[in-house]
Amino acid sequence: MKSQRTFAIIKPDAVKKNATGDILNMIHTAGFRIIGMRMLEINREQAEGFYAVHAERPFFASLCEFMSSGPIVVLALEKENAIADWRKLMGATNPANAEAGTIRKKHAANIEHNAVHGSDAEDTARFELSYFFAGYELF
Ligand code: CDP
Ligand code: MG
Repeated sequence: MKSQRTFAIIKPDAVKKNATGDILNMIHTAGFRIIGMRMLEINREQAEGFYAVHAERPFFASLCEFMSSGPIVVLALEKENAIADWRKLMGATNPANAEAGTIRKKHAANIEHNAVHGSDAEDTARFELSYFFAGYELF
């Protein structure tokens, strides 16, 4: 399979508990190249724009509040099969169901404060990468 890009976020809960370094190390150990990275804070409106697909879900308001509650690290990742492989490394949305060895098993507190984000398909990866990165910022 050819090289593929995906988009990832280290969420405010993980940044706050100083898990950033460990998560970056897990990313590299799993064979991803980090081709873009930035630490920033987003406001409520920017979180709502990013998660627009979830606008009708009951957890939307709380999720957007959480995602704008502190610094995050946004990442562009590249490897073969990056989208599926990154979701596998993240683990299940609810850390109670996450497999051993996954980031969420190790670092997530609960189904909302679950340490990391990852795109779920090629079209969402394209949208999410372009939401945070300009083409010239990727290496
Ligand atoms: O992040 P992932 O793709 O695994 O899950 P999602 O279903 O796309 O949901 C997006 C995010 O919303 C999750 O990562 C959680 O932070 C949050 N969420 C929540 O707070 N409560 C739920 N019941 C489901 C998701
Ligand atoms: Mg999702």
